[in-house]
Amino acid sequence: MNYVSINNIDNLENWVEEAISLKKNPLNFQHLGKNKTIGMLFFNNSLRTRLSTQKAAINLGMTPIVMNFGNEGWALEFEDGTVMNQTKSEHVKEAAQVISQFCDIIAIRAFASLSDKEKDLSEEVLTAFVKYATVPIVNMESSVGHPLQALADAITLAENKPNHKPKVVLSWAPHPKALPHAVANSFIEMMQKQDADFVITHPKGYDLDPNIVKNTPVEYNQESAFAEADFIYTKNWSAFEDYGKVLSQDKNWTITKEKMAKTNQAKFMHCLPVRRNVVVADAVLDSKNSLVIEQANNRTFSAQIVLKKILENSKK
Ligand code: CP
Repeated sequence: MNYVSINNIDNLENWVEEAISLKKNPLNFQHLGKNKTIGMLFFNNSLRTRLSTQKAAINLGMTPIVMNFGNEGWALEFEDGTVMNQTKSEHVKEAAQVISQFCDIIAIRAFASLSDKEKDLSEEVLTAFVKYATVPIVNMESSVGHPLQALADAITLAENKPNHKPKVVLSWAPHPKALPHAVANSFIEMMQKQDADFVITHPKGYDLDPNIVKNTPVEYNQESAFAEADFIYTKNWSAFEDYGKVLSQDKNWTITKEKMAKTNQAKFMHCLPVRRNVVVADAVLDSKNSLVIEQANNRTFSAQIVLKKILENSKK
C-alpha cells in the first residue's frame, strides 16, 4: 500500500473520523510501529511535514531516519540507460532498493521544477521510488500533489463544519516567487470528495490543470466567489498553462479583513508557510477565525492515520 495521492484513500469520511479519534489517544497504537523504521527523504525544505511526520511515526512507536538529499545525498540519476559520466553519482534503481533494506516505509518530498512541465507531470522522483523501492511509499509533497496536507485540511474542515452544507472557496493570492501547484491540486481533489459547495477563484491565466479541476466551478471575480463562504482556503500557485510563470502580483487579490467581511464569517485556512501582508493581511491571520495553527497541528494526525493504515496493511 502506497500513499502517493488523496485518491489512495478508500473512504475519506472514515479516515477523517479515525484521525479525529487518534487525536484523542495518539499513543494507543504504539505496538504497530515497534521495531519499524520510516526513512524520510527530503529533496526540498520543510518545517511542518518534516516535524509532523516524525511526530506521527514516534506516536506509532516507529523510529524515523531523516535524510536531506538536496545537500547530503549523492546526486541521483532517474533516467534509464544513461551514460553516467556527468554530475549524477548514483542511480535511483540502486538507491531505492538500498534504502528499502534499511526502512519499512519510505516518505519522499520532491517538488516540481516548474521549468519542465512534462517531467513534473510524470512525477519523476516519486514514480521512480514507487517502481524500484520494495516497501510502501508516502508522498510528503511531490510535483503534482500534497496529499498529507489535503488530508489534514479535510480533518480541519470536519472539526469546524457548520450545521449546513458548507461553501468552501479556494482563492489564489499574490506571491513574489513562482510556487508549485501541489497543495491546490490535492485540496481540489479532496474537496471533490466532499458534500460541499466548492468554488475556485483566481485571476485569468492561473487556471490549474484541467485534468484535476474537472467540473469544479471557477469564478474569476474573487468578491463574487467570497459571498456566503464558510471557509476561505488561500494559496498562491504559478501559472499552469504558461508553465511556472508569475503572471501577476496583483495586491487586489490579497486576503483582507474587508474581503472576509463579504463572507458568512468564514474561517481562514492556509497550509503555511505564508507571507504576511502579501498573501494575507495580519488582521485576518491573527483573527479568531484563522485556522492555520489547527491545520498545522492536524498534519500530525493526517500522517499518523496514513502510517497506521500502511502498518496495518503490511501485517495482513
Ligand atoms: N504545509 C507544509 O507542507 O509545510 P512545510 O513545507 O513546512 O512542510
